[in-house]
Amino acid sequence: MRLAPSKKGSSDPNEGAAQVADPAHGARHIAIIMDGNGRWAKKKHLPRALGHKKGVEAVRNIVRVAGEMGIEVMTLYAFSSENWSRPADEVSDLMGLLRQYIQSDIDEFDENGVRLKVIGNYKALDSDIVALIDNALERTAKNDRMTLAIALNYGAQDEMLRAVQSIAAAVKQGELEPDQINISHMSSALDTADLPPLDLLIRTSGELRLSNFLLWQAAYSELYFTDTLWPDFDKRELQRALKSFGDRDRRFGGR
Ligand code: FPP
Repeated sequence: MRLAPSKKGSSDPNEGAAQVADPAHGARHIAIIMDGNGRWAKKKHLPRALGHKKGVEAVRNIVRVAGEMGIEVMTLYAFSSENWSRPADEVSDLMGLLRQYIQSDIDEFDENGVRLKVIGNYKALDSDIVALIDNALERTAKNDRMTLAIALNYGAQDEMLRAVQSIAAAVKQGELEPDQINISHMSSALDTADLPPLDLLIRTSGELRLSNFLLWQAAYSELYFTDTLWPDFDKRELQRALKSFGDRDRRFGGR
């Protein structure tokens, strides 16, 4: 069993417990819709680009924290298939941050046993970013302490369509009968095929929607919404979300 360090004297939600048996409260796979970078910047009278930059710092911090807590998989919604409709300079800022993030953090991933994974159609990004990603995927493929799955050019409807297309191709090849297609064929054809079930889906910044993120995988996940803007989402916020998760009664449709 993993034991978290003593939280005595702190004001976090686990206060009073000399040791917390499982800081993840049983959650193996957490996903986050990181929303609110723009509003964070606006509130501080800063350019949006700085909000995104702060957003990357929050990513860096939360990935470290999740690793320390023993979370197995963290899936982050970094760029949706709909985000292309943002102004060109903002798309370019986001891509620049992505480039920088992969280049600067790849060594740390490796040192900490973090396996990088990408979900979404990332091959449509600029070719230099695709090359950076492919290199990072290969370099970290054997790391097994934690998986960081980044959603890039991702949309759940697009992911499900691609899955259906691959199943249809198998049917056409005569490998499968249409009436044999089951839930596990779909799960195995999705980008998340190798990941454990999604336990907890968090969205920051007070918006109450899933925005085309992990729609299939969220069938029985717990949802957690917070007003906190993404750049302010820190260890304490993650602890709150996990505590809330731990207090839920998950029945998966049973009684
Ligand atoms: C939403 O803020 C945030 C995004 C567009 C995606 C999150 C992106 C990052 C955290 C930076 C890049 C990430 C990586 C991994 C390099 P928003 O602009 O929609 O905020 P708003 O709703 O307040 O305008």
